[in-house]
Amino acid sequence: MIEKFISIEGIAKRYPAQFGGNTTIFEDLWLSMPRGEFGCVIGHSGCGKTTVLNILAGLDEPSEGTVIVDGQAIEGTSLDRAVIFQSHALLPWRTVMGNVAYAVTSKWRKWDKARVRAHAQKFIDIVGLTGSEHKRPSELSGGMKQRVGIARALSITPKIMLMDEPFSALDALTRGTLQDEVRRICLETGQTAFMITHDVDEAIYLADKIFLMTNGPGAVLAEVLENPLPKDRGRIDLHRHPHYYALRNHIIDFLVTRSKTFVETNKDHDPRNVPVVRPGFAEPAIVNTTESFQMPQAGQASAR
Ligand SMILES: Nc1ncnc2c1ncn2[C@@H]1O[C@H](COP(=O)(O)OP(=O)(O)O)[C@@H](O)[C@H]1O
Ligand SMILES: [Mg+2]
Repeated sequence: MIEKFISIEGIAKRYPAQFGGNTTIFEDLWLSMPRGEFGCVIGHSGCGKTTVLNILAGLDEPSEGTVIVDGQAIEGTSLDRAVIFQSHALLPWRTVMGNVAYAVTSKWRKWDKARVRAHAQKFIDIVGLTGSEHKRPSELSGGMKQRVGIARALSITPKIMLMDEPFSALDALTRGTLQDEVRRICLETGQTAFMITHDVDEAIYLADKIFLMTNGPGAVLAEVLENPLPKDRGRIDLHRHPHYYALRNHIIDFLVTRSKTFVETNKDHDPRNVPVVRPGFAEPAIVNTTESFQMPQAGQASAR
């Protein structure tokens, strides 16, 4: 049986509609992940990705359903779950050290100042900000601010690290460096991570599993992709792997066409039993973008 370290169980999110009734952003959403995995959600803007992440963080509540992390139903925010936002959300009046130390103190209230600072320093060093401890957010570049966010998140040794498009506002070079660091840290520490992105290559590089969400309203989790590339993949040779284009084409084909038509054309889609696909291995999952896409046949999608 697959360990369900994170288990999203039939959640829905509805908002009151302008002229009465409700708008359903998504409903009956089921998703699970074992401990130590890196999951990425990809879907078009407005489909409900941030809402799902906020529910996982305890910042928002589902209209229906529950979320269980490590055997416990989520009720509100917790220092077991760290969030890295797109906008870094640092305290502007605190220094780098102050921002990280604040998180450490929140988690371990009885620690004295020296212990808090030593612990915070460890994570400031890990993200490469040694020497910038005294700087305030206004004195930092965008990439450095996100590094503080990563250090702050890691410093509380969270059970899960939640990231909402954390690198989307950064230039390509900085984004690449931070992706490398997050990947290295997660691999070294076995950190469970759940990230939202709209960057296909970011998902291919970082994720063990990629969750494909259809367009909203009424978005559904259409497929779970298992990353067919080896765990020790490197950024430089990613595109040389024989399954790279199968995976990339599959995601792009989904985003360009299937995310719009999936709900209509898959009436028998079972949200509790979402197909698990390993592009490059299951024949129908290799998408030839000049031909129409066919759903994997029973037995051809690998279900773990
Ligand atoms: N407070 C709110 N009231 C009404 N609709 C909302 C509210 N917050 C979010 N939405 C709607 O929910 C949908 C999903 O939003 P969001 O989760 O931010 O999407 P994503 O992150 O995928 O771009 C959007 O259509 C958005 O307009
Ligand atoms: Mg969002």
